[in-house]
Amino acid sequence: MNQKNITWHEGKVQKADRQHLNGHKSALLWFTGLSGSGKSTISVEVERKLHELGHHTYRLDGDNIRHGLNGDLAFSEEDRTENIRRIGEVSKLFVDAGIITLAAFISPYKKDRAFARSLLPDGEFIEIYIQASIETCASRDPKGLYKKVKKGELKNFSGIDSPYEIPQSPEIVIDTENQRIDESVLQIVNYLKNKGFI
Ligand SMILES: Nc1ncnc2c1ncn2[C@@H]1O[C@H](COP(=O)(O)OP(=O)(O)O)[C@@H](O)[C@H]1O
Ligand SMILES: [Mg+2]
Repeated sequence: MNQKNITWHEGKVQKADRQHLNGHKSALLWFTGLSGSGKSTISVEVERKLHELGHHTYRLDGDNIRHGLNGDLAFSEEDRTENIRRIGEVSKLFVDAGIITLAAFISPYKKDRAFARSLLPDGEFIEIYIQASIETCASRDPKGLYKKVKKGELKNFSGIDSPYEIPQSPEIVIDTENQRIDESVLQIVNYLKNKGFI
């Protein structure tokens, strides 16, 4: 990174001004978990609920971002790290814009999630571990990926032949094997209410 001759130019509208205009605070809801655990499903429903409640939201989702901004990246450890670094930086901009941002990425490495957390002030990075065993994920197999792994057509798959490092102290744990989607949505929305974000 070359930061020589680069000076930050302060604006006259700040994050707090945007939040004030919106009537709620902004934060980053970071959904992490195995493929098929339910990150996309739950984040979509959380966003819909927040929108219904009149809040400003934006959702960043793994596959969608890999179609565009991160279309040049694959699934090596290095590329996964770069994927999360860019998402972290983009999410930070959205939070700065006053928006409740939902990021749904496997994000298998602790250090990468810690990096994304480090970009935001305390409390604004909300790590949500979407929990389901690898067996459950493989039986759901919403995108047919586990089937491909089994046939040997897909490599570097998190939880199988690539690591998934379980979050040690996430702000929220969602047990998708024992709770319904609507219960999970309520749990997350209530967290935002209890912490005074909305
Ligand atoms: N309780 C639950 N919570 C979330 N998803 C569930 C639950 N029960 C079954 N599912 C299903 O699991 C699948 C999760 O897929 P998806 O959201 O695409 O996962 P991810 O984005 O984590 O890869 C969906 O087909 C969803 O309908
Ligand atoms: Mg998904």
